[in-house]
Amino acid sequence: MAVFAFEPLVPADLEFNEHDVPVSALYQDSYHPADGPLGQARRVFLQGNGLPERWRGRSQFTICETGFGLGASFLATWQAWRQDPQRSQRLHFVSVEAHPFRQADLATLYARLPEQLQAQAQELLATWPILVPGIHRLELDGGRVTLTLAFGQAETMMRELQCHADAFYLDGFAPRGNPAMWSRSVLGQLVRLAAPGATAASWCCAGQVRRDLASVGFEVEKVPGAGGKWCTIRARLRPHLGRRGSVPPQQGRVVVMGAGLAGAACAWALARKGVPVLVCDPALRRGLDATHQGHRLAAISPVFALDDAPLARLSRNAVLHAWQGWKDLPEAARPRRVGTLVFGQAGNSDADIQQALEHLALDQGWVQWLDREQGSALAGVPLQGGGLYFPQGMVVNPGALVAHLLDHPLIQCLPEQVSLRVGQEPNVWEVCNQQGECLESSNRVVIAAAAQSLSVLPDEFLAQHPMPRLAAMQRLAGQVTYLSAEQALTRGEVTLSGQGYILPVGPQGQVIGSTYERFGESAQASSQGHQQNIEKVSAMLADPAVAVATPEQGWAGWRCALSDHLPVMGFVPGQPGLFMAAAYGSRGLSWSLLAASLFAAYCLEEPIPLERRLEQALIPR
Ligand SMILES: Cc1cc2nc3c(=O)[nH]c(=O)nc-3n(C[C@H](O)[C@H](O)[C@H](O)COP(=O)(O)OP(=O)(O)OC[C@H]3O[C@@H](n4cnc5c(N)ncnc54)[C@H](O)[C@@H]3O)c2cc1C
Ligand SMILES: C[S@@+](CC[C@H](N)C(=O)[O-])C[C@H]1O[C@@H](n2cnc3c(N)ncnc32)[C@H](O)[C@@H]1O
Repeated sequence: MAVFAFEPLVPADLEFNEHDVPVSALYQDSYHPADGPLGQARRVFLQGNGLPERWRGRSQFTICETGFGLGASFLATWQAWRQDPQRSQRLHFVSVEAHPFRQADLATLYARLPEQLQAQAQELLATWPILVPGIHRLELDGGRVTLTLAFGQAETMMRELQCHADAFYLDGFAPRGNPAMWSRSVLGQLVRLAAPGATAASWCCAGQVRRDLASVGFEVEKVPGAGGKWCTIRARLRPHLGRRGSVPPQQGRVVVMGAGLAGAACAWALARKGVPVLVCDPALRRGLDATHQGHRLAAISPVFALDDAPLARLSRNAVLHAWQGWKDLPEAARPRRVGTLVFGQAGNSDADIQQALEHLALDQGWVQWLDREQGSALAGVPLQGGGLYFPQGMVVNPGALVAHLLDHPLIQCLPEQVSLRVGQEPNVWEVCNQQGECLESSNRVVIAAAAQSLSVLPDEFLAQHPMPRLAAMQRLAGQVTYLSAEQALTRGEVTLSGQGYILPVGPQGQVIGSTYERFGESAQASSQGHQQNIEKVSAMLADPAVAVATPEQGWAGWRCALSDHLPVMGFVPGQPGLFMAAAYGSRGLSWSLLAASLFAAYCLEEPIPLERRLEQALIPR
């Protein structure tokens, strides 16, 4: 599996030079010319890439930038796009940045921007992510504009990105002080990321940059600027280069098999982008919230690893993505940010964890160490020890969330058990009910049927395309326990998570969990299971929990997991269009939106919201 050499993220320190222009002490260079950032953005990057003309009449247009800086070029582009009545339906902007500004510093910088950019600047500021390495996907302008930020060194992150860029803005600091930003390996990645006909522009005219751009696959032109004082680069990808997505044009509605968290999120992600979806699941007879009926509250809890292993990195991406995507849902379905205090990291001592925290230098807005007193103050009761506190931890009512996701005018829900038959045309599948009737022929199918995810495929297909990793998926029953407000074990607005978990008290009392039944035949709450939950959570508390719950005071269900706890999300190899979303284990709420956005990005040729090495680790095998 892919292992990342961890690179801590070092934010930018805001400083100004004698002309009041923001400068980087690290690179001894200014972020923009003395006459302001917007003139350069329009003159060099927009005009240099033939914009706004080139995005006119298109369904979407994708721009990839090296060096986000203060985002001035992004804001100028977004503004030009908004002002153009013939603009593309969507604008995707992808940018790499090794030293992002802190939100407070961006606020200072944006206060100096002209009035006509303020609305966009403030919207960006409000969604600005916490500064942790990896890919962050922001949706702006009602979802019509996406901003994909890759925080990390360009040499690493350009390799992790995937998009079909129509235009590039090359905007590192001057090559003399910032050679890494103009290296042949970074420029070479532009070709991998380019759509046919892509262009590139830069204020930097250095001979070496022009030669390297030419050698990786661009036709490069040096363009004199006004008055001949400066020149810019304009480049065009050579005609035989550039690529489009590998997914053939859509035939039939998108079909989603399974209406649990995995399926509902995939259906929602496409329906909200205007794509009609058919969702099939026999459980729908019990209502849209069937898979989590009676499950009052569940947690979205981040994972930590001393070496920032793929599961931890994925969890960071997924949890932040879930917040970005779901924070504006109606209140009943919306996750609530309460923070999660995590104890006992896989047998590592507190000292090891604190040392790793220092090395990883992750933003405190993501994770910080709390000692016993600090943790106890947060929980409102004395705790056994200290732990890792994740301020981004959330809780949500999973039934209300699933029901909301499925309740969309472009989603049709059918209470049918279905299976797949190979269709007449390549990559087209027939979705059949138990009577063998074909309900829909489609080349966009999501298999989100948890433990049944392989058995919905034809035997002959599985014989030719075995997926041993998925076949080893385990199904585990489990239950949560409900305590009344009087029985509640904590008082604070925080989730405690160790061997078991304690969620914050709500109007209906408190949820604690959960059990793992490896060989269970059915998923049913029992008094014995409740007792196990009470014992598990006691390990986190200074005073052992004493509570009694009757069987009906709880909820029981299934989870399916692989031994490495990574989920499966991706196209079945060799089957573009056949997407598998399964093995979500105990973290269905964390994984479901990221997987759904990944599927939507493949289908709609949008930038991929996940690092390439992580994406590879998750494909069905
Ligand atoms: C006790 C307990 C507590 C949990 N707490 C949390 C928590 O706090 N946070 C968290 O993130 N996760 C939690 N989980 C895990 C979470 O519930 C799962 O990860 C999640 O439900 C998995 O979603 P899914 O859509 O993959 O599967 P499911 O919800 O099982 O949905 C799969 C659906 O596929 C349907 N299906 C099967 N075969 C077919 C077919 N042939 N045709 C059509 N449909 C089919 C099934 O009917 C089912 O409805 C908990 C799980 C349990 C058991
Ligand atoms: C000239 S500024 C970009 C200005 C920006 N385009 C704007 O509109 O505000 C150059 C940016 O490149 C970033 N940078 C420098 N070296 C980098 C590297 N190796 N990887 C990623 N980003 C880098 C700097 O931190 C800086 O923000």
